[in-house]
Amino acid sequence: MLGVEEIHTFYGLSHILFGVSLTVLRGEIVCLLGRNGAGKSTTMRSIMGLTPPRQGTIRFRGKDITGNKPYQIARMGIGYVPDDRRVFADLSVGENLELAQRTTGGLAVWDKDRVYSFFPALRRIDSRKAGFLSGGEQQMLTIGRALMTNPDFLLLDEPTEGLAPMIVKELEDRIGRLRAEGLTVLLAEQNQKVALRLSDKGYIIDNGLIRYHGSTEELTADEEARKKYLLV
Ligand SMILES: Nc1ncnc2c1ncn2[C@@H]1O[C@H](COP(=O)(O)OP(=O)(O)OP(=O)(O)O)[C@@H](O)[C@H]1O
Ligand SMILES: [Mg+2]
Repeated sequence: MLGVEEIHTFYGLSHILFGVSLTVLRGEIVCLLGRNGAGKSTTMRSIMGLTPPRQGTIRFRGKDITGNKPYQIARMGIGYVPDDRRVFADLSVGENLELAQRTTGGLAVWDKDRVYSFFPALRRIDSRKAGFLSGGEQQMLTIGRALMTNPDFLLLDEPTEGLAPMIVKELEDRIGRLRAEGLTVLLAEQNQKVALRLSDKGYIIDNGLIRYHGSTEELTADEEARKKYLLV
């Protein structure tokens, strides 16, 4: 469904990604693991067209989308949940969701009610101003907002970062259910445990290079690779 082929991405003069390649098949949850500054967010920003690669190709459903604008990429069905969990603080939870709504012809449509069925915790705080949410609630809202755009592919950038273990458990459960809702997911994580429990396969990125990829079983078994590239 998504093919990233040998991309090189820069911020100004800084060369950040060095020939990153990865493949995500329809219905998979694929994790992109790597420590601080490894290039996870930059890979996601490259896919989304926010920091387009200078070299290499990104294909979505077989179509070359390299160099397309973020809004065009979003319209094709890629939802993006950035790492900053930014919401409209002065608007209610419900209003934040309504603002994001986009109807697309034919496909199963996400509306507020469906998001609330998926995240029951959000239904209870529908009228609360988003500026008063806990970190976990904000994360559910940013994922809910991405779902309102009816994506069939979701980029999730470190959704569990900085959250209390109980909330991490709950989010993990929800992310695992996205597949049943028809979504394909690329999940960037530093939390190996969560990522390996959720994913079908995984990639390890380090200093802008893919150092390892394999099935979840292979990655789980390869303690050496995980020690080498993932422990701080
Ligand atoms: N806007 C920017 N301008 C210049 N350099 C940047 C910018 N954003 C990130 N970088 C650099 O690019 C490299 C990769 O950063 P990136 O944010 O992709 O890493 P990450 O794997 O997402 O890390 P984290 O786990 O901390 O989110 C880092 O060296 C970082 O300092
Ligand atoms: Mg990041």
